[in-house]
Amino acid sequence: MRMTTIRRTALLGLLVLGVGVLAGCTKHGDEARERQIEAQVQLAERAGVKVEKAADGTTSTNAPAPSKSGGVADGPAALGQRIATANGCVACHTIDGKASVGPTWKGLSERNTELVSGGPVKADDAYLKESITNPNAKVVKGFAPNLMPATFGNSLKPEEIDQIVAYIKTLK
Ligand code: HEC
Repeated sequence: MRMTTIRRTALLGLLVLGVGVLAGCTKHGDEARERQIEAQVQLAERAGVKVEKAADGTTSTNAPAPSKSGGVADGPAALGQRIATANGCVACHTIDGKASVGPTWKGLSERNTELVSGGPVKADDAYLKESITNPNAKVVKGFAPNLMPATFGNSLKPEEIDQIVAYIKTLK
């Protein structure tokens, strides 16, 4: 009887502590956004991508390194498709119109994207490149910031980014 009470009190204490820690971590009502990020990270993990969250809130994935591109006869869009696959982009972006962890690439270059900061903005080459190299610069409405790895500007060569853009533009 006494043991149970003690255990219950301990549990309650832990719970209060947990909530306290959570509240401490999230300032100014960022909780909803944190929850959204967690849900989307879980989604990514279910898709086979391991998303690492660094202490500064940025993310990185275990996507394999880009493979060496093969035939010289390949056009930029075909190369871009391969680079996007090799870099794990397709774990978060579909090409069939369905939203996933990130917005679908289908029709992206033709639609006007609504941003968290307002919009709409035309998804031209410059916008697409910026979205790849600096994903937090313009965050798409309905999606979480700090989820897309911000490392592609370093890990991809400029011509590889051009090839991905060429590929995305073929997805009408
Ligand atoms: C871990 C998941 C994840 C991965 C991996 C990822 N992205 Fe994203 N991406 C997102 C999310 C979430 C957004 C929406 C938030 C934002 O705008 O940053 C986004 C936005 C974008 C956009 C803007 C889309 C729009 O509708 O305007 C482009 C373009 C894009 N990503 C390209 C890429 C490319 C290319 C790669 C691979 C080199 C990649 N992403 C890898 C999650 C991801």
